[in-house]
Amino acid sequence: MASPLPLTIFLFLSLSFSARSDSPGVTSETETHLHFYFHDIVTATKPTAIRVASAPLLSTSITGFGAVVMIDDPLTEGPDEESKLIGRAQGMYALASKEEAGLLMNMNFVFIDGEYNGSTLAVLGRNTVFSDVREMPIIGGSGKFRFARGYALAKTYYWNVITGNAIVEYDVHVLHQ
Ligand SMILES: *[C@@H]1O[C@H](CO)[C@@H](O)[C@H](O)[C@H]1NC(C)=O
Repeated sequence: MASPLPLTIFLFLSLSFSARSDSPGVTSETETHLHFYFHDIVTATKPTAIRVASAPLLSTSITGFGAVVMIDDPLTEGPDEESKLIGRAQGMYALASKEEAGLLMNMNFVFIDGEYNGSTLAVLGRNTVFSDVREMPIIGGSGKFRFARGYALAKTYYWNVITGNAIVEYDVHVLHQ
């Protein structure tokens, strides 16, 4: 004989899920595409990317495994450093691969311009810097980007092997409130 209990639980769960999806903002989603350039300035009088830790000498690796770099990198409209500043990438990247140049990126895009001024997007993902295109998840956001999820595609626009300075083109696609 079937007990009514499982049905009660099922009804309760479906009610609570529909209540959630009816809450304001979750049902009407906007898709936004952002395009900008990220300036990772390692060598300069005022660098924006600073190595704060590295692995002990005994474990030195050709891929730099174990290093951690803090960044406050400008995000500009065009590839030129002097083009309009639209935000900053604040956070850190860590050299997380022993086999190749593979970074763990953990940063917030902090926007300071136009309708996204004050809003942020959180990025957490893998960046194999010598690949043509790297995809990183957007795992959240604030302000205009509440409930954000999506992905960022990064392509190196410029890289100087001597200084380590790089300009990276970002295409970001997000669904948000
Ligand atoms: C962005 O917001 C801040 C704080 O509200 C304000 O001071 C600043 O002028 C704004 N910038 C732009 C470009 O709108």
